[in-house]
Amino acid sequence: MKVFFATALFFVFVGVSSADTIAVIGTGDVGHALGVSFAKQGHTIVYGSRNPDRGSVQDLVEETGHGATATTQAEAVVGADIVVLAVPGMLVEEITLSLGDLSGKIIIDPTNPLQRSFLTLRHGVDTSNAEIIQAAAPDADVVKAFNTLNWKTMLEPDESGGPVSVPLAGDSGSAKRKVAKLVEGMGLDPIDVGGIENAHWIEGMLILWINNRYGSTRDSFDFYLRRTP
Ligand SMILES: NC(=O)c1ccc[n+]([C@@H]2O[C@H](COP(=O)([O-])OP(=O)(O)OC[C@H]3O[C@@H](n4cnc5c(N)ncnc54)[C@H](OP(=O)(O)O)[C@@H]3O)[C@@H](O)[C@H]2O)c1
Repeated sequence: MKVFFATALFFVFVGVSSADTIAVIGTGDVGHALGVSFAKQGHTIVYGSRNPDRGSVQDLVEETGHGATATTQAEAVVGADIVVLAVPGMLVEEITLSLGDLSGKIIIDPTNPLQRSFLTLRHGVDTSNAEIIQAAAPDADVVKAFNTLNWKTMLEPDESGGPVSVPLAGDSGSAKRKVAKLVEGMGLDPIDVGGIENAHWIEGMLILWINNRYGSTRDSFDFYLRRTP
């Protein structure tokens, strides 16, 4: 009996300790979708906003639940294990630098550096946003993730009519495994596509996706990468 209670306590402890504090920087569509989805998995969300007292941010905190709060962007990261940069894609360097010390944290990068070129969008940086963020926070582990699907699919993956892949790129295997668990917990399919140098191509996938979705005569699609045996 003693062994049973000791084992049960161990699993309760392990379960509790596996909950992370996740700072979600930016309270737009992606911040909303990822914050709500991660909170459902038992994690504590701290939204970082330029205006945390705004009504829409307070509504998001209430919708998220599970002890969620909102504060400034720089304060949100202080006690966080994981930082999500759900911010405009052409501002990632200045926003990352403004957050202070991110050493030892996992940074999830769902951003896309989009630049308009007449009727279509093109990749707006020579390398990738993930590499720019990694250079701005060299002692953090950046994982590119979630940039290739619409925020509605993040919240309701079953509405896509089939499985949807989330390609992950980054140089830390343990960070990618942790992000893969979050992806799986949302009902999406994580695919490790290698080091951070591959983030450029993942960002390219979104350029293809978005130009097709909003191009009048093209097929729209979601990405599903089938594993080979
Ligand atoms: N929309 C999608 O379906 C989708 C899907 C995949 C990836 N993405 C990418 O994910 C990123 C976020 O997308 P989103 O649609 O959520 O964008 P968004 O609606 O424009 O939200 C970005 C959030 O960032 C904060 N922000 C805006 N300007 C800022 C500034 N100058 N400095 C600091 N923070 C600022 C704002 O939050 P506060 O007002 O609270 O500060 C804002 O709500 C983008 O890079 C986008 O390309 C989008």
